[in-house]
This record gives sequence, C-alpha cells and structure tokens, in this order.
Amino acid sequence: MKRILDNLHVDLIAAALMVAMVATGYILRFPLPPGTNKSLSLWGLTRHQWGTIHFWISLGLLALVAVHVCLHWQWIVVSVKRRLGRTASPSASPVRSGLMTVLALSAVLALFGWATQSGVKMIAEPVPDEPPPQTPKAEHNEVTFWSDVYPIFERSCLPCHGPHRQVSGFRVDRREDYFDSTSRVALVQPGNSNGSPLISILSGKQAGMARADVHRLTEDQIAIVAAWIDAGAEWPDRPEKQPGTKPIGTE
Ligand code: HEC
Repeated sequence: MKRILDNLHVDLIAAALMVAMVATGYILRFPLPPGTNKSLSLWGLTRHQWGTIHFWISLGLLALVAVHVCLHWQWIVVSVKRRLGRTASPSASPVRSGLMTVLALSAVLALFGWATQSGVKMIAEPVPDEPPPQTPKAEHNEVTFWSDVYPIFERSCLPCHGPHRQVSGFRVDRREDYFDSTSRVALVQPGNSNGSPLISILSGKQAGMARADVHRLTEDQIAIVAAWIDAGAEWPDRPEKQPGTKPIGTE
C-alpha cells in the first residue's frame, strides 16, 4: 500500500512543521517581542528574520495540507456525495470537482490578498495636546527657561525627581541641584552644553546610567536644553502665574 505510506510521510512532515511554527511563533512573541528588531537577536537572527522563517514554514504547512487533501481526494468526493444523498455517479469526474475546489480556494485566497494589500494604511501621527517644541527656536538660542525648558523637565522628570519622589536625591525643580555638586562635575556647565552631564544623560550617552530608557529625550527637546545651557543657563525667579502649570514645591 504505497498510498498509505505517502500519507504517513506527509503527515509526519506536517506535524514537524507545525511544531516549528509554534516554536518560531513563540520566539516572535516572547524572546523577541514587537519593537525589538533593531536591538535584539536570537542565535544570530533578528526578529525580522525569524518572522520570515515563520512565514515560509506556514506556507510549507499549507502546501503539505494541500498534498494531503489531494491524496485523499477520491475519498472526499465520495463522502461529500454521500452526505448530499447522491451515490457516486460516474458522470462528474473527481478530477473536475477537484479542479473546481482548487479554483474556488484560489479565488478566496486572491480576494484575501487583495483586501489586505489595499487595506494597509499609514498610522496618523498622534496629535499632541500641546504644540511640540520648535527646533528653530533652539537653533537661534531664543529659548526661555520657564516657557521652553522647564516644561520639558516637568513633564519628563518630575514624577521621579520632584516633590513626591527624589530618586538619587535629585530634584528637577530645585535650582541648586543642577549647578552645585560637591562630589563630581555639576549637571549643568553654563555656556558648555557639550561638557554638561545633563546633556549626556538626556541623549543616552552617559555611561552606566541607570534606566537610560526613561532619561532619553527627543532630539528637539535636547536641542532646547542645550541651547539654554549654551546661552548661560539662566534660571530666573519663576513668573507669578503661569496658566497650565502646577505650582512647584519650594525648598
Ligand atoms: C521613571 C523614573 C525616572 C524618571 C521619569 C527620570 N528619572 Fe532620573 N533617575 C531615575 C533612576 C532610577 C535613577 C538612578 C538612581 C540610582 O542609580 O540610584 C535616576 C538618576 C538620575 C540622576 C542622577 C544620575 C547619576 O549619575 O547619579 C539624574 C541627574 C537624573 N536622574 C535626572 C533626570 C532627568 C533630567 C529626568 C528627566 C528627563 C529624569 N531623571 C527622569 C529615575 C527616573
């Protein structure tokens, strides 16, 4: 019985492919989750490359299932006809109905392919609540501390370095914490943004920085802080009332 052997082989390979598909799917979900393509690799392959392998395995599996169905074709035709209450009549050839089935399946797959191709859309940039910081301002050294620089600290740093928590003993709303340092270089060197550790921290260049991820700011934000430092890092008294900003703790 050569047929049965063929089916056994096909099913064994299909089972192996199924396991490989689950394994690569696992890799794509857990060790290399979405967003890690540029930063991580597993056994020399990136997330993208594992995704390609996953895709080809799934195609192989699909092909094997098709082969499996073909090998069972006679049986399928007979059973379907029985279901429909018709005895297998010699008039409709199994080859013809097989062909029709394959055609119908291909049409559905082609429709699916077309729908997915034309359904892909650009994701609109999220609209920020406040206008984003403007680079030209930073380029022309026109930044002012309370309206341009401090809001960046307030938004990105205050939860961990403010009145409620003072991680590392550093408070982002306390002037002297930027300029005075007993043990090492002060965070801000007025007039010298390149030599200011604050800029290294915000641009992710500070060696051994804990939680570098929460400290990295955007290029525009860094440019504003750097422009402020280069212009002398003035920290004037806070203007009386600023709409939209919370009063800060004084110490
Ligand atoms: C999610 C919490 C969190 C946020 C937000 C955060 N930090 Fe930090 N910060 C930390 C932690 C954690 C450390 C390291 C503490 C340690 O090593 O003991 C740290 C350390 C620091 C230090 C000390 C660095 C050193 O070398 O000792 C500075 C300065 C600092 N942060 C500035 C900032 C600034 C500026 C921002 C805003 C851009 C910011 N942090 C935002 C958690 C945070």
